Amino acid sequence: MLRINRNDPCPCGSGLKYKKCCMNKLSSFSEKELADTYFRKYRIRLKTPQDIKGIKEAGKLVVDTLYLCGEKIKPGMTTEDINTLVHEYTVSHGGIPAPLNYRGFPKSVCTSVNDVICHGIPSKDTILKEGDIVNVDITTILHGYHADANMTFFVGECSDDAKKIVRVARESLKRAIPVVKPGNRIGDIGYTIQKYAEGEGCSVVRDYIGHGIGKNFHEEPEVPHYGKRNTGIELVPGMVFTIEPMINLGDPYSRVLNDDWTAVTTDGSLSAQFEQTILVTDTGYEVLTPYEL
Ligand code: MF3
Ligand code: CO
Ligand code: CO
Repeated sequence: MLRINRNDPCPCGSGLKYKKCCMNKLSSFSEKELADTYFRKYRIRLKTPQDIKGIKEAGKLVVDTLYLCGEKIKPGMTTEDINTLVHEYTVSHGGIPAPLNYRGFPKSVCTSVNDVICHGIPSKDTILKEGDIVNVDITTILHGYHADANMTFFVGECSDDAKKIVRVARESLKRAIPVVKPGNRIGDIGYTIQKYAEGEGCSVVRDYIGHGIGKNFHEEPEVPHYGKRNTGIELVPGMVFTIEPMINLGDPYSRVLNDDWTAVTTDGSLSAQFEQTILVTDTGYEVLTPYEL
């Protein structure tokens, strides 16, 4: 639960320090007062039941779109075809593809093939071939709320290396999700992922991290996929953020291509990723973009 420190502004809104105001009184604060205090302190927007409902509805559309992509992806298809599929399905279901024009991103979805870590730009020139792996990262705005999830797919029959990196990325996310509960800290999530992925001989990308989400695509808190146990802010009910580990078969280093978006591994090794949007509940977590990992 939110702990108010002696020197924090009092949640009652008096403008006094907590110790000079309500600390020694028997007063309880409304959800809104607590959320405001939390925002002032950490810039984290705790979600209301209405917000959560909205994100969940967007999440269902994201997952349906991901499954559609999974059914359609075949050798010979281009990443532009995936873009068209995602764009048309999203719009025809009342959603807006959040990536389109986001900070200048030119397409409606990110499609990241083989050594592309993330933010791959769909193109007619990128033709999927047997043995490729492709991550499809979908963020949809529905009735003002964002949900963000991704999966890495096999294109036809794949190498043992491809199978390994996809398995380790999937399992990294799967192990991190149950760590989400009140009282645990942000660092516990990264620690769990790093320990597992490095134990499998893979590496964790540092340059891109998970993020809070809601009415905004990216907001506080930051969620690194590496780190130390029992560090960082405490998880509290009402937080919504993504966990989206990017795992490389070789080194963890990335560089961005001249298109200003496409992030690739510097050593050319394969990279895979899975992402979900997750709510901290009173007792643990709820995945707001539920799909089977
Ligand atoms: N969906 C990505 C994420 O998981 C962000 C993509 S930003 C874009 O945070 F502009 F490339 F769409
Ligand atoms: Co995403
Ligand atoms: Co994300």
